[in-house]
Amino acid sequence: MSFSNLDTLYRQVIMDHYKNPRNKGQLQDGSLTIDMNNPTCGDRIHLTLKVDDGKITDAKFDGEGCSISMASASMMTQLIIGKNVKTALQLSQLFSNMMQGKDYGEDIADDLGDIEALQGVSKFPARIKCATLAWKAMEKGLKEEQQ
Ligand code: FES
Repeated sequence: MSFSNLDTLYRQVIMDHYKNPRNKGQLQDGSLTIDMNNPTCGDRIHLTLKVDDGKITDAKFDGEGCSISMASASMMTQLIIGKNVKTALQLSQLFSNMMQGKDYGEDIADDLGDIEALQGVSKFPARIKCATLAWKAMEKGLKEEQQ
């Protein structure tokens, strides 16, 4: 597939998550609630996670933000539900590496689902905070839970 076709495909995946967000809303029985905002624009995310016995059994997000931040939150919740806390934190590190344009382990990219569609964001430093907002919220909640 050519780069321009790939870009178009990735853009479609991002817009699909933005317009039809997965796991949007709030968990009433969530064990973790995290609020975070992007200081550069004021957009915010409200993330609720249900963690049972070291495993994320459910996740929902709410908030206001640009297409990249909301699509990234949608993709992230889809990816982490069913994962254990350690794996979710590893995925967050991997996503951070991807956003910084570092080697993120493409060999396991099959496990990333739709997240790969966001890799082009690394070329736009001003948007990296948008893409990582939900991930930082997830990391904050899980790390606090581990203490
Ligand atoms: Fe605010 Fe992207 S512009 S999160």
